Amino acid sequence: MSVHGRPLASSVLLVLAALPAGLGAAEPKLTARQEQGQALYRSTCLHCHGERVWGTFTLGRRLGANNALLENRTDLVRPYVEAVIRKGVGSMPPYRRTELSDAEVEAIADYLSRNTRAQ
Ligand code: HEC
Repeated sequence: MSVHGRPLASSVLLVLAALPAGLGAAEPKLTARQEQGQALYRSTCLHCHGERVWGTFTLGRRLGANNALLENRTDLVRPYVEAVIRKGVGSMPPYRRTELSDAEVEAIADYLSRNTRAQ
């Protein structure tokens, strides 16, 4: 198999060689489902959970500044994120299946729990 006439394996090596050392380890590549979750998160959740907006302020008050931004959390597990999306929490509204399908909720949960080790 070849890409633009060059054998695929050497194309991959060229791409790897162009990456700064350690970059891949610090920010692991997202899976296809996590990428879908990231896109959904940005279109559906970010207006409340982005920098310096309501959800982020509320979580900062309840859990401390380090836990305010959901995308940076390392303690979120999938079942918790899915339950919060479906049931809501505090002043966050719940999402029905007509708004977000189960597959979409799973993708978002997969994205937000990507940095959590044990689950
Ligand atoms: C209308 C604003 C709003 C939207 C939209 C919103 N949230 Fe929230 N969310 C909040 C607020 C406010 C809180 C904090 C509630 C509290 O602690 O009282 C919260 C809390 C959470 C928590 C709990 C975190 C914890 O550690 O307890 C999770 C997880 C969460 N939101 C995920 C999401 C996801 C995923 C979406 C998109 C599907 C989303 N939120 C959309 C306002 C929002």
